[in-house]
Amino acid sequence: MAFELPDLPYAHDALADKGMSRETLEYHHDLHHKAYVDNGNKAIAGTEWDGKSLEEIVTGTYQSGAVAQNGIFNNISQLWNHNQFWEMMGPGDSAMPSELESALAESFGSVDAFKSEFSAAGAGQFGSGWAWLVKDGDGSLKVTKTENGVNPLCFGQTALLGCDVWEHSYYIDFRNKRPAYLTNFLDNLVDWENVASRM
Ligand code: FE2
Repeated sequence: MAFELPDLPYAHDALADKGMSRETLEYHHDLHHKAYVDNGNKAIAGTEWDGKSLEEIVTGTYQSGAVAQNGIFNNISQLWNHNQFWEMMGPGDSAMPSELESALAESFGSVDAFKSEFSAAGAGQFGSGWAWLVKDGDGSLKVTKTENGVNPLCFGQTALLGCDVWEHSYYIDFRNKRPAYLTNFLDNLVDWENVASRM
């Protein structure tokens, strides 16, 4: 069965007051995310991956490393990444659950130190990619960055928070100021209850 574009979990203008405009969400969700869905479905049609879950396709094609499967990996991983991304933000005022605050303090020293490390990872990703807060196989929390569509599933990690640092994610609202986009993401857009629920 073909994958579908999930609706945004909020209205297109719901994040506008917090620095992510209606126009960004119209382009990013309705056009970019939809293209990953459509191209991913086309790429897997008639292959061994048809009928598999997103997670199975991401890990299976990444680990196989076959060049011929890059079209499948790139589109399906980006489909999965964006499915997570919309859920990780929200229009409400999100207080950080205490268990997440404690875990961040334990791993990074403080919440502010975590934010600095996450922002530096996103700003330091050369070209397109993502910044992540992950739970590693041993249960520890780490900040990582990945190129293009690569994501924590590829490394057996759990994605707790991801920030899209492709230009399509910030150029309408922040132009070339990726660090300002990352700061705004962490300070205003993240739904910390969603992040905590992934632990
Ligand atoms: Fe994106």
